[in-house]
Amino acid sequence: MSNITLTIIKPDAVKDGHTGAILDQIIKAGFKVKAMKLKHLSAAEAGKFYEVHKERPFYNDLVKYMSSGPVVPAVLEKDDAVASFRTLIGATNPANADEGTIRKNFGKSLESNAIHGSDSNENALIEAGFFFAGTEIY
Ligand code: RTP
Ligand code: MG
Repeated sequence: MSNITLTIIKPDAVKDGHTGAILDQIIKAGFKVKAMKLKHLSAAEAGKFYEVHKERPFYNDLVKYMSSGPVVPAVLEKDDAVASFRTLIGATNPANADEGTIRKNFGKSLESNAIHGSDSNENALIEAGFFFAGTEIY
């Protein structure tokens, strides 16, 4: 399971109807979907997921944003999944993201940047466990 990453299609991208197009881009890039669901995070759950940013000035806004509507978390598998997926999604700020990346295509702002990707193999496993039981990962 070391070649997995955890993604979240963020609330505004889901609300704006981009879930299908984003998943299509992910699958065409060679990722296999191992687990997926719709989930509306509570503020407490969103806060726990992004706990590493608790001291950052943008934390409260991030928690509000991530609990503002349903999201689509998914476990994805591919060789070198974490780094390969970060390349596919692009820079945190969509304005700085490369052409053709998911954040360039669907992100609206530094905060509303359409999609999350794990930043290490260790965090990918922790984040997969945050959203899914072992029996829900195929
Ligand atoms: P993510 O964890 O969602 O994949 O994003 P990332 O690694 O590219 O960026 P990170 O530094 O982990 O930030 C997490 C999310 O917080 C929001 N953000 N807002 N207003 C701001 O200055 C600011 N900076 C970051 C974004 O939604 C970012 O993805
Ligand atoms: Mg991050």
